[in-house]
Amino acid sequence: MTQISIPAEVPAQVGTVKAAAPAPVDAYSGAWRSVLDQPLGPRAELDRMRETAPFYDTTVYEIDGRRVRIGDHWLTDFASCNYLGLDLDREVIAAVPQYLDRWGTHPSWSRMIASPEPYAAIEAALADLLGAQDALLLPTITHIQLSVLPALVAQGSLFVEVHAHQTAHDGAVMTAARGGTVARFREDRLDRLERRLRKAPFPRLICVDGVHSMTGNAPPLAELLQVARAHDALLYIDDAHGFGVVGERTPHETSPYGARGNGIVRHLGQSYDNVILVGGFSKAYSSLLAFVACPTPVKNYLKSAAGSYIFSGPSPVASLATGLVGLQINERRGDELRARLYALTRRLLDGVHSLGLRTLNTSGFPIIEIPLADADDAEALGHFLYERGVLAGVVPYPIVPRENVGMRVQVTAANTEAEIDDLLTVLTDAHARYPLALADGP
Ligand SMILES: Cc1ncc(COP(=O)(O)O)c(C=O)c1O
Repeated sequence: MTQISIPAEVPAQVGTVKAAAPAPVDAYSGAWRSVLDQPLGPRAELDRMRETAPFYDTTVYEIDGRRVRIGDHWLTDFASCNYLGLDLDREVIAAVPQYLDRWGTHPSWSRMIASPEPYAAIEAALADLLGAQDALLLPTITHIQLSVLPALVAQGSLFVEVHAHQTAHDGAVMTAARGGTVARFREDRLDRLERRLRKAPFPRLICVDGVHSMTGNAPPLAELLQVARAHDALLYIDDAHGFGVVGERTPHETSPYGARGNGIVRHLGQSYDNVILVGGFSKAYSSLLAFVACPTPVKNYLKSAAGSYIFSGPSPVASLATGLVGLQINERRGDELRARLYALTRRLLDGVHSLGLRTLNTSGFPIIEIPLADADDAEALGHFLYERGVLAGVVPYPIVPRENVGMRVQVTAANTEAEIDDLLTVLTDAHARYPLALADGP
């Protein structure tokens, strides 16, 4: 892994970079002020930490491999989802200028008007990699959830898994506003989903996450597909965290993540019948781009029915370049990167298990949530990790249920063995002060 050091243009600053107090909002009328001052309800805790904690909403001044500088404080980044480490890869970085020379920085057309040729190249490469009939590129998964979900469901019914990513629930709100019927379900109670599906208006769509962004685990795909196919429903899978990380199983695979990183459907040996696979480049591929893998008639329908194809601006050319070159690197040495990612993740998980700690991760994939014994310790744990040089997600209630409040770390191929070992030392010390939940605990 080539590591880069980006020279600091902003000098090191001493201490925290947080503003002491929010600036007054004199430019707004009192009516607007009451909006800004309204109670944030369940998000109040997150908002308070955002205002005060150095590990939230912070500014990074310098990057050196997976080390980041915040003020004058260097930390190891375990919050990055750049799983393959392509954000730091010299081959990717070196390839970007020629795309900028040829296409400029940003085409600015909506895709409905025109798309620079790399779009077609990426869509073809993606369909080939995934083994899907076709693929449609849009800037982000957020765009896809908000426009593709309502377009596919129309006046039919949408069932969203309760733990699906917030952007899927936002897409559900949009679907309801367009006249669709929306309900939630739990993937551990598919019997209930089946009962409701029997009476649900057509077309029917079931929406789940692939590799889950908090637990790091896969959904019960075979069971979900069986239910979907039995009730003539589409299964829409947001595999933001699986794409690029897990892939088809082969005798020659370099790790249990499988080969080629072509996503959770291929990893679990399923076909694309009744499946809409959504994925993004913003995690494993370190780029601003996302896709819907689907049959060509669905792609053509979405071109006219999904607002983000017609009305949104495109991805910047640098993102098209990093996406395309990332796919080329994936074909050549992606499995090597995934073998490294797997080995680092295994090292961390083995350490967590030997400390006797509970983690939600049962898959071995590189998202590791470690709950606290007492959810009230979340902020103190966050400060401790920060002081000890670990940048990790501190996940408060209600982002996760109270029993799962704790820390979330991601491993990337750009981390080092020494960084994983340091993290385990910090975890041991953190556990002595702010007890983490035990694997065999109550
Ligand atoms: C499961 C999941 N879906 C969607 C998103 C949003 O993706 P994007 O940044 O492409 O909008 C994320 C990002 O964190 C995610 O974790």
